[in-house]
Amino acid sequence: MEMSYDDRPGQIWLDGALVPWGDANTHILTHALHYASCVFEGERAYGGRIFKLNEHTRRLFDGAGVMDMTIPYTIEGIDAACALVVHNQGISDGYVRPIVWRGAEMMGVSAQSTKIHVAIAAWEWPDYFTDRMTGIKMKWAKWRRPDPATIPCHTKAGGLYMICTLSKHDAEKDGFADALMLDYRGYIAEATGANIFMLLADGKLHTPEPDCFLDGITKRTVSALAEARGYEIVQRHIMPEELAGASEVFLTGTAVEVTPVREIGEYSFTPGDLTRTLMEDYDAEVRRAIPATQNAA
Ligand SMILES: Cc1ncc(COP(=O)(O)O)c(C=O)c1O
Repeated sequence: MEMSYDDRPGQIWLDGALVPWGDANTHILTHALHYASCVFEGERAYGGRIFKLNEHTRRLFDGAGVMDMTIPYTIEGIDAACALVVHNQGISDGYVRPIVWRGAEMMGVSAQSTKIHVAIAAWEWPDYFTDRMTGIKMKWAKWRRPDPATIPCHTKAGGLYMICTLSKHDAEKDGFADALMLDYRGYIAEATGANIFMLLADGKLHTPEPDCFLDGITKRTVSALAEARGYEIVQRHIMPEELAGASEVFLTGTAVEVTPVREIGEYSFTPGDLTRTLMEDYDAEVRRAIPATQNAA
């Protein structure tokens, strides 16, 4: 059994200071716990440096803005705090979780004057999926990504993850590693914490248009890596039946990195050369030494 996340050695950055891990608590009447008034980030450190830190921090601030929450720190301050936490925990390769939420000063749907809290925790983290080149098996999710008019779909707001947890639990109960969600129109959307790419017969890499779900930072990184290898990226609406013509399929995300897919419902694929190449290119990219002036990028 995994060590519980509420009691670990080390410290968590909470509202501007490092506190002992087990003391980084919030009250039961915290607004975010009842009404999902929170946004978070998921980042990875490689060799002690957080990959695309500044992009993640900017997305956190953008998401908080959409959620009508003003973060009481600067982007540079949060970048520095994330780096501090990784250093303080002595992490080389690990995961970083900043979170912003409304406190307990008010209880009810309206919560205009609640305090906006920020915390950052980090821990050592191995691969998200263990059977990397084998490829994972996925189940179709019965829950869909909603219409952008109904929810702030481009943020990492906590409320959006209810759909992901329900879908992932359902898949795991049936022995699958993850679920693939369609969107409200029936197009392929994303996995529960990752974006999807497929190599079709035209030799191009196709990926769903992120018009109602997260446009992942890893998706953009991997698209650039594939283009550098001469592949054309086609971002468009993709119907589930089109998977019948896919030779290779893989997921991308901060947590899953580049993960090959072996099966989605009735469709199967063989992880191949392109997937392997992009896995290697991504591994090299996240560990690439960059000039000190770009250190926060
Ligand atoms: C629902 C969802 N989609 C996609 C992604 C991939 O985004 P990124 O590559 O920025 O980590 C994530 C992870 O953050 C996610 O939670």
